[in-house]
Amino acid sequence: MLKIVLLGAPGSGKGTQSEKLVAEFGVPQISTGDLLRSAVANQTQLGRKAKAAMDAGELVSDDIVVGMMRERLTQDDTANGFILDGFPRSLAQAKALDELLDELGRPLQGVVHIKVDHEEIVQRLMARGRSDDNEDTIRKRLNVYQEQTQPLVAFYEDKGLLTAVAGVGGVDEIYNRIKTALPAG
Ligand code: AP5
Repeated sequence: MLKIVLLGAPGSGKGTQSEKLVAEFGVPQISTGDLLRSAVANQTQLGRKAKAAMDAGELVSDDIVVGMMRERLTQDDTANGFILDGFPRSLAQAKALDELLDELGRPLQGVVHIKVDHEEIVQRLMARGRSDDNEDTIRKRLNVYQEQTQPLVAFYEDKGLLTAVAGVGGVDEIYNRIKTALPAG
């Protein structure tokens, strides 16, 4: 059982580290970015609504994202846990997640905050080259993170759920730090 959030700026390594957690713990990674990109690629109604915000490096509306997560978190494969990657990203989303997990009787065990300097992130993402990885959009995403997502650090600290790890160095080195930071049980 592992029910955690990986919190961190765009490019901090949430997706990279989630893959390793999935392989070791056998619980699904749920990435709102991946779900949204798949909706855009399939040209669903939700994808059409989300596309402009994603291209601009803005957050997709809380309504859309929370509705999508409600659907995802009630699927059977989450019975033994989940790794949330890129969600929640605003206080409204964090509160909605609390309510949803209360309803499901499966409260969060912990939040791991992966910390990486923003200049290092710009270098990493420019090298990756996803369609939203141009310098202007990367900086926009980092500003949005600072304004809307960073307040979640205090939100989860107050709940006693947050552990911070340094997200610089080798992928395996960081993974070992994350494992040490995982909640017991
Ligand atoms: P999303 O898909 O979440 O993108 P993001 O925020 O930019 O985060 P990334 O997936 O790029 O970063 P990551 O932390 O997973 O890092 P990764 O492991 O890939 O969101 C995209 C858009 O969707 C948002 O802008 C928004 O519009 C929308 N959206 C998504 N969720 C939303 C929500 N909840 N609410 C509203 N809107 C939402 O690594 C990045 C790169 O670094 C890779 O190339 C990797 O190989 C490299 N790397 C990883 N670790 C290391 C290391 N240790 N050293 C060197 N390089 C490394």
